[in-house]
Amino acid sequence: MPIPPSVVPDVEGFLRSLLRNVPGAVYRSEVDDEFAMQLMGDEIERITGHPASDFAGNARRSFHSVVHPDDRDRVQRETRAALESGEAFALEYRIVTATGGVRWVLDRGLRAVDALGRECVDGIIFDITARRSAEEARRRSEAEAARVGELEAARARIIAAADDARRHIERDLHDGAQQSLVAVALTLRLAERRLEAAQLDASMVAAARAELEAALGELRELARGIHPAILSDRGLAEALRALAGRAPLPVELECDLAERLDPAVEAALYFCASEALTNAARHARATRVAVRLHASGPTVALEVEDDGVGGAAPGTGSGLRGLDDRLSAVGGALEIDSAAGRGTRVHARVPRRPAGAPNTPGAT
Ligand SMILES: Nc1ncnc2c1ncn2[C@@H]1O[C@H](COP(=O)(O)OP(=O)(O)OP(=O)(O)O)[C@@H](O)[C@H]1O
Ligand SMILES: [Mg+2]
Repeated sequence: MPIPPSVVPDVEGFLRSLLRNVPGAVYRSEVDDEFAMQLMGDEIERITGHPASDFAGNARRSFHSVVHPDDRDRVQRETRAALESGEAFALEYRIVTATGGVRWVLDRGLRAVDALGRECVDGIIFDITARRSAEEARRRSEAEAARVGELEAARARIIAAADDARRHIERDLHDGAQQSLVAVALTLRLAERRLEAAQLDASMVAAARAELEAALGELRELARGIHPAILSDRGLAEALRALAGRAPLPVELECDLAERLDPAVEAALYFCASEALTNAARHARATRVAVRLHASGPTVALEVEDDGVGGAAPGTGSGLRGLDDRLSAVGGALEIDSAAGRGTRVHARVPRRPAGAPNTPGAT
């Protein structure tokens, strides 16, 4: 039974609307040196800035001539290889637009035979510039994130190595010079007693012993400044108690941390308290200082607040800036409130990383 005219497929109309609606430039080209276009869709003008009529039969330019010079050889080589193997190809390359800009295209095509029985290539060229730019931006931001991660890890390693060196120096001073001087002080004490027992003048020995004890006190203070042994031996809460006890101002201490933390975290918080207390004594003209250490959930917070003149600003000295570096190396942060006349509040927050946990700087 013949098909009624109303249902005969309108192939030409279908092709025309396809050509108009496909989001790319449909083409048919020769298989010659420059792949001269027999047919080129209007979309090519939006992509290249040149009208489609320029390309048909290479009327004004070949499509090959708008391919970016750095990509031309590869496009030729890969297109020919695909055609020879009878495979479809999908190539991504750059083209240079009429205004000299560069756009990325995806060219998908395959070998065909035209109405005269000649070999040709049928394909579509899509504009993929936006996708390539987004990919490029994502690659750049991933590379940047990796670089920042490496720098943070390197900074944490440097601070951990420096802390380690400080612990060793403190141990060496404690076990070496300090012990020898203590032994000499005891010997002098013995000599002093014997001289006194023999009713001889012991004043020179007593003076030497007093000087030696003063020097020992200074050496202990120096060792404590390098690294407080109590911090490694008994933890942050005890070390803060000792620090508060030695401070030249009255210190109110609140502390609700029972467990031991990672040594880098303990050191960061200890040096933070120590620097803030020293600053309060040196710069604040304060009458009292409050030190509060609170552990809540995944965070440990340290607050040092004085009632002095305010006006603390990182940048003029190295103390507050060093704290900021130290805290961020363990994934923490420092905040300073110090309005003039209203005292200073130094606030540090760090992740509550228990001793023995893996070091992951930046993880809060
Ligand atoms: N508690 C405070 N009260 C008032 N001013 C402060 C206080 N802490 C710091 N400052 C001011 O902020 C500046 C910067 O402090 P920072 O600790 O960074 O350096 P510094 O104490 O001067 O020197 P460094 O700590 O390197 O020995 C200080 O010079 C001081 O003027
Ligand atoms: Mg300081």
